Amino acid sequence: MEKQPFQPVSTGVRRDRGSRKTRPFHIVLALPFVVLLGLVGRVSLFSDVPRTSTIPINASQILQQCSDLYRVPGPSPDFPKRTQSDRLQPGTKPVLIRNATIWTGHVEGLETLFGDILLADGLIKAVGEVDAAHLAAYEDLATVDAQGAWVSPGIIDVHSHLGVEASPHLEGAADGNSFQGTMAPWMRSLDGLNTHDEGLRLGVAGGLTTSLILPGSADAIGGQAFVIKLRPTTEKSPTSFLLEPPSDLGNGTHLPPTHLAWKHMKHACGENPSRFYGVTRMDSVWAWREAYNTAKKVKTAQDDYCLRAEAGNWDNLGSFREDFQWQPLIDILRGKVKVQTHCYEAVDFDNFVRLSNEFEFPVAAFHHAHEAYLVPDVLKRAYGPTPAVAIFSTFSGYKRESYRSSEYAAKVLAEAGIRSDHPAIVSRYLVHEAQVAHHYGLPTYLALSAVTTTAAGVLGLDHRIGFLKIGYDADVVIWDSHPLALGATPRQVFIDGIPQIEKPYGWAKLAESQSAPKTPDYDAEAAEALKHDGLPPLQEFSATTADRVVFANVSSVWVRNEDGVEELTGAKDLGFVTVEGGRIVGTGKDAAYVEALSQPSTHLVDLQGGSIAPAIVSTGTSLGLQEISMEASTTDGAVFDPLQDDASSILGNTLIRAVDGLQFATRDALLAYRAGVTSSVTFPEGGFLSGLGVSFSLVHVTLNHLEIASVSTQIAALRHLLLDRLKGDAGIWFGKVALGLMPLVVRVHSADIIATLLELKAEVEDLTGAALKLTLLGATEAHLLADAISAADVGVIVPPRTYPYTWDDRRIMAGHPLTETSLVPYLLDHGIKVGIAPQGIDDFSPGMAAWSARKLRWDAGWVAVEGNLTEQEIYPLVSTNIDKLLGVRANPAHGDLVATRGGGLLSFEGKVVAIISPRRGSVDII
Ligand SMILES: *[C@@H]1O[C@H](CO)[C@@H](O)[C@H](O)[C@H]1NC(C)=O
Ligand SMILES: *[C@@H]1O[C@H](CO)[C@@H](O)[C@H](O)[C@H]1NC(C)=O
Ligand SMILES: *[C@@H]1O[C@H](CO)[C@@H](O)[C@H](O)[C@H]1NC(C)=O
Ligand SMILES: *[C@@H]1O[C@H](CO)[C@@H](O)[C@H](O)[C@H]1NC(C)=O
Ligand SMILES: *[C@@H]1O[C@H](CO)[C@@H](O)[C@H](O)[C@H]1NC(C)=O
Repeated sequence: MEKQPFQPVSTGVRRDRGSRKTRPFHIVLALPFVVLLGLVGRVSLFSDVPRTSTIPINASQILQQCSDLYRVPGPSPDFPKRTQSDRLQPGTKPVLIRNATIWTGHVEGLETLFGDILLADGLIKAVGEVDAAHLAAYEDLATVDAQGAWVSPGIIDVHSHLGVEASPHLEGAADGNSFQGTMAPWMRSLDGLNTHDEGLRLGVAGGLTTSLILPGSADAIGGQAFVIKLRPTTEKSPTSFLLEPPSDLGNGTHLPPTHLAWKHMKHACGENPSRFYGVTRMDSVWAWREAYNTAKKVKTAQDDYCLRAEAGNWDNLGSFREDFQWQPLIDILRGKVKVQTHCYEAVDFDNFVRLSNEFEFPVAAFHHAHEAYLVPDVLKRAYGPTPAVAIFSTFSGYKRESYRSSEYAAKVLAEAGIRSDHPAIVSRYLVHEAQVAHHYGLPTYLALSAVTTTAAGVLGLDHRIGFLKIGYDADVVIWDSHPLALGATPRQVFIDGIPQIEKPYGWAKLAESQSAPKTPDYDAEAAEALKHDGLPPLQEFSATTADRVVFANVSSVWVRNEDGVEELTGAKDLGFVTVEGGRIVGTGKDAAYVEALSQPSTHLVDLQGGSIAPAIVSTGTSLGLQEISMEASTTDGAVFDPLQDDASSILGNTLIRAVDGLQFATRDALLAYRAGVTSSVTFPEGGFLSGLGVSFSLVHVTLNHLEIASVSTQIAALRHLLLDRLKGDAGIWFGKVALGLMPLVVRVHSADIIATLLELKAEVEDLTGAALKLTLLGATEAHLLADAISAADVGVIVPPRTYPYTWDDRRIMAGHPLTETSLVPYLLDHGIKVGIAPQGIDDFSPGMAAWSARKLRWDAGWVAVEGNLTEQEIYPLVSTNIDKLLGVRANPAHGDLVATRGGGLLSFEGKVVAIISPRRGSVDII
């Protein structure tokens, strides 16, 4: 079979090669009418059988059972002619969306139409021009004027744990994995699906309409996965969320009998099964081979039975061999299952591809697939069509398996699917993943396809979702900007034709965000990643120079000042900026620039309309304390926790200092540097009192409901530290904190705990007479106490987008389109000093969030777009405010600057091309 590079797996499944002759009719049996003819044909054959043979009374059932074995999944041939969806909710009103810019998904994602879309009976009834006669057929027609807005198919996530790892996380609903053993094909994610998961409602708010819910990856075979739509149903049951539930699921399937739904099976390679069971890769592969061999034996017995039945050899028929437990794997061997495999690296792909060829089953997709871009030929060797890959845009480096991953992987593989692994990446922001992949070189049409059409193919559902096409499910998103523009947010989302957002909030976005961003060229970087097997050198620059550097075609220059930031207007509108010894010495227009160029030692950098902006400061992660967060030997490790561990006999009252655990040139730090982050305020990781941040500017504690000690114990401990003058090191530092000489940084989310902290602050101030400098890190519920936080002069550092990971942050302000405003603008409006920390600081350990520092530029850009903030307002949130909130005394004249080509630092257009450092007196030209 001709293999194509990284095509999504289509509904066709390769048949067993040697078996066609012996089963002359299974190919056509998918067609109902031919089934009948086939049986008639067989009946006439029966007359050739010796008369002594007894035809069993249920011969036709037996033949039917046998023909069913060889049915190929997929819709019945008349499926496209359906006039009503099997998921139609009675009472759904028809809707006409007018004046839309329609991305249909057709022509490989290149087709865009301008016009209308008619939704009725749970289906798309017309796209483009809708004639009046057609409309007349619908009473009650609601009309939505899209006013030219982009409209796309509903977003599809091929890798999610929505419902099975429900949010907020509570012990009673952690149903993502079975821990009974490494082989569990009989487990079903549906059986743990919690429909109260907040992630469902929030996912819809991001345009997500369909997700494949996979069991976790603790087991080498984790169990069966199910496709759900995210809308609430009238029945409210998990079953009623299913899209095309397989027929053998019992109650809940509404498909005609001729429509055989695909099944899905989760497999996991590599580290995860090993972590949970202490098995190795060798054990996992043997466990697969043994399991598939068991299934193969049963399958062979079934096939032999059917061969006898088909030949009319009734006397020797015997009984049909069944195996309730292993049937799911037999289904795989019969090509009825999309095999969805969590697999990161070369050794794992190689193993699984060998398995697929040994047992002759195709692989629908490799998920995670961090090293797929390094070994595409291994994937092409898989049995049947080349598997798709479902990858993250940038989430990487957190474990050994993902160490060699590259942000250019999607570009290299081109036709990749992008997925969330929700809640690893919150699935509400799946489109943001596509945006980031687009920035790093995945073409526009493929980036959109990755979360719609390609994803639909991976799920075997491209006959009904993923496209805007007549007869397809009415899953439609109206966007406030081009879906690949930073901060793109749905204005409305339809699932099965039902509008999902009761009262959508938002604002009319600018004209320039109505087209896809013009993204940088990363050909050279992608080639380097491949050349160095995923570990390109990051410390080498094309030049590091104290000589004169002239930046030409600059559109704006922003620098730090005492209050925040200010614009230097001298170079505005394609002027130039001259830098010597790492300092800006001049700005201007053409004449002076020509003069500058005549100097022999001048480096010229054409910014092509890009900008110069204050470098970003990151905080809240373990950047600089680790190389691979899940590999203990590469990290500083967790600090001892004075509330849990007893190391005090050695440590006394010494405070732990992050600076003592620093590692230089970690990849996360270097990647962040290359994305404009030139400093990080890092704390020791873990525990209640983690200690002094790097640069000794602050003391850091964590307060939440997840510690072993109660919240009230944690508060009591803090009160003790602040008020009962301790001896030694801790006494000195906490004395300074109590006197307001250095800030106390508390990682906290819950508004209740924040309220207690505000009271404790007042209590301490009453006794000391000094203003305690308190900064809240995380603070996802801060909006509930905005007035009190503002009155207490407390600062907050929040993630750019919040999510109710735990009970402590369950009451987030969800932002557009669900709430009128969002967290950052709301806090700013209350006069609170705000900083933005990398995405993930509210969920992961500080170690797990370190990779995301490199995305701070777009996190800030996102907040600016959502809140309609100006450059004057947004730059301080990721630079000077962080310094101030953490007590870092920075001379504004020494502040690093970042030069970007093609667009601004906070945009998808800009590419970081130089770091200007007055402190070091030099410029790194990247
Ligand atoms: C046919 O009848 C036999 C004997 O009763 C039974 O064991 C078998 O399950 C039946 N097969 C089908 C497909 O109904
Ligand atoms: C929207 O559609 C209506 C009906 O087709 C038309 O009258 C109106 O001019 C359109 N508006 C825009 C902005 O195109
Ligand atoms: C549920 O399944 C049982 C057994 O197959 C069947 O008798 C019943 O009618 C089904 N109910 C619904 C609502 O489909
Ligand atoms: C500035 O941009 C223009 C237009 O792209 C280009 O022709 C010119 O060479 C650029 N200037 C420099 C110094 O690179
Ligand atoms: C966005 O902010 C600008 C000023 O920066 C203002 O002119 C514009 O009206 C604002 N847009 C909305 C929708 O608030």
